[in-house]
Amino acid sequence: MKIRKERSVLIGDYYNTPQTSLMTFHFEPDSERELRPCSIRHASIENKDLYVIDNYFDKEACAETRRYFEKASYSRLSYSTSDSEMEEEHPGYSMNTKERWSLFYQPPASIRELHELLGELSVRLNAEISTAPWELSHQAEAVTPSVIVNYHTQVSPKSMLAGRHRDCDPAKGLFYGIPILYKEKGAVHENSFENGATGKPWLVSALLYAASECFLPEYRMGTVYYKTDGEAEMKTDCLDGRLVLFEGDLFHSVEDSHIPPEAKPWRTSYVLKLVINPREETQNVKQAFSEFSQKWSSEVSELCTGALMRI
Ligand SMILES: [Fe+2]
Repeated sequence: MKIRKERSVLIGDYYNTPQTSLMTFHFEPDSERELRPCSIRHASIENKDLYVIDNYFDKEACAETRRYFEKASYSRLSYSTSDSEMEEEHPGYSMNTKERWSLFYQPPASIRELHELLGELSVRLNAEISTAPWELSHQAEAVTPSVIVNYHTQVSPKSMLAGRHRDCDPAKGLFYGIPILYKEKGAVHENSFENGATGKPWLVSALLYAASECFLPEYRMGTVYYKTDGEAEMKTDCLDGRLVLFEGDLFHSVEDSHIPPEAKPWRTSYVLKLVINPREETQNVKQAFSEFSQKWSSEVSELCTGALMRI
């Protein structure tokens, strides 16, 4: 697995603080190889794509990751938005900068496989796939990292609603520059663009679940996805080793828990905020991924969304 570091540029002064790290990490392939088969299900919520990918990661690799998260330390309380803290959202736990770096630099098996997969996909899509800047920090609010682990043992219904957020909002404007790969060196995309439009980057979050051995999907704490009016459209169950790719400007939150008193489960989601950047002006990487998913898995099924849709 090869990961190349590159420093991005800041737009505006909002995140111009000593804590901000503009380092981005580019996933590159070692050598082109066949991707393992998997099951892919696709849904679209207000034209935002969501892919649920199951059975890609090896069981032993998932077990190694589970053991890692069981022993890991989580030194930060995490709130989904700065507003939700005010609304008494029940916080989860997340890693501080050092803990996240140690995980990213020497990841357990299924996370290593995820990084390798992203390198392979960059070849298939003829795009660069990188993280957003490592950490954008403003004095008045919490840090916004591009590599995150959210650890939960319980989630209240209030917390689920207060936690609705987007991972990014390129239509409104980004605070960092994304290089235009088909123009002269130094050129960057306008900071505001339609996510995944032709010639533009596609900002996607990759979410990999892990859960304790005693965890059952009926304990919930998966992810809920919403329309822009706040109505829930779909839920993905937390299944150990399940990968979900969704457009970063799709509203989502952690689902509330339904845990019997005698059970003591935990679950984590490892989230990468990704930039999928086309190499050609005429390319549409969102469309290219849709076409590639059909080749990757012979059984891509389409999901009809609606508040009761749970997979
Ligand atoms: Fe998120």
